[in-house]
Amino acid sequence: MEFQNTPKIELHLHLEGAMPPEFARRLADEKNISLEGVFDETGGYAYRDFWHFLEVYEVATQVLTGPEEFARLTKAVLEQSAQHGVVYTEAFISPDFCGGGDVGAWKEYLAAMQQAAAEAEAEHGIKLRGIATPIRHFGPEKAKAAAKCAAETSGDFITGLGIGGDEKAGKLSDFSWSFDCAREAGLQLTAHAGEWGGPESVRDALSLNVERIGHGVRAIEDAELVKELVTRDVTLEVCPGSNVFLGVYPKLADHPLVRLMDAGVNCTVSTDDPPFFHTTMTKEYQDLATVFRFDEQVFLDLNKMAAKAAFCDEDTRAALLKQFT
Ligand code: HPA
Ligand code: ZN
Repeated sequence: MEFQNTPKIELHLHLEGAMPPEFARRLADEKNISLEGVFDETGGYAYRDFWHFLEVYEVATQVLTGPEEFARLTKAVLEQSAQHGVVYTEAFISPDFCGGGDVGAWKEYLAAMQQAAAEAEAEHGIKLRGIATPIRHFGPEKAKAAAKCAAETSGDFITGLGIGGDEKAGKLSDFSWSFDCAREAGLQLTAHAGEWGGPESVRDALSLNVERIGHGVRAIEDAELVKELVTRDVTLEVCPGSNVFLGVYPKLADHPLVRLMDAGVNCTVSTDDPPFFHTTMTKEYQDLATVFRFDEQVFLDLNKMAAKAAFCDEDTRAALLKQFT
């Protein structure tokens, strides 16, 4: 497959959302957990729209019952990413699914995932960093507990705080306590915005002083906002296949990625929840090459931007930048 072996950086990947359906079925069988309504007749994940996706996602996540299951998932996801040329990835990991916001339990989950990541790195050379991710529709109070978990474990594995879930649930500024707490603990910040919400949702994310925005693509609807993203040197974690699959844009040719890049916005390319959106990093690159004529040089530039925006230490960044020159 063309581009399969092209080295890649991925900055926007939900660990639970990267769970292969067959992995979910195996764990469900082992544990006697019902996943009724989660799969379609072909065995893939089944849902009607983004909001139903979030529901199905939470049901599927029930098979991840403890640190051991998250370790197995980490290993499986990293093996899969490495097969698609990914050399460095950041994964959103939700404290809500890993101990329910309890710091002691979260540390046990992290230890198991970190061990799995070390094994995957030794076997496949892929590096993982984690972004602790509260879930917006669970509300600001749960987010505080998640942010405290993140702050307590800020270091060389958990390097960021993000927020996912229903972009229409409350305002991001309601979560400022959590983002301030994380920043004070040395974490870097990103937030999902500008996917289902318009430019105002991107401004809402900027009010949290985030370095990156998950999606953010609907900023294109407001020229002043696009300029502000450039001035602030904010990086967008763009997930073109996810946006098309979920219907944010009717087809890839309508996607604003190129217009954002031409305006000088830092953009990167990721998959979001690959099995849910029937994509891989290889497919993203292939589709961008087909529709927008992206070549090796454009992918190199996108990966250089990703290396600059990665939530990692400076030695790791320097090594990545060297790989993409
Ligand atoms: N978007 C928002 N929240 C999410 C997603 C997503 O793609 N996956 C898991 N939580
Ligand atoms: Zn996402």
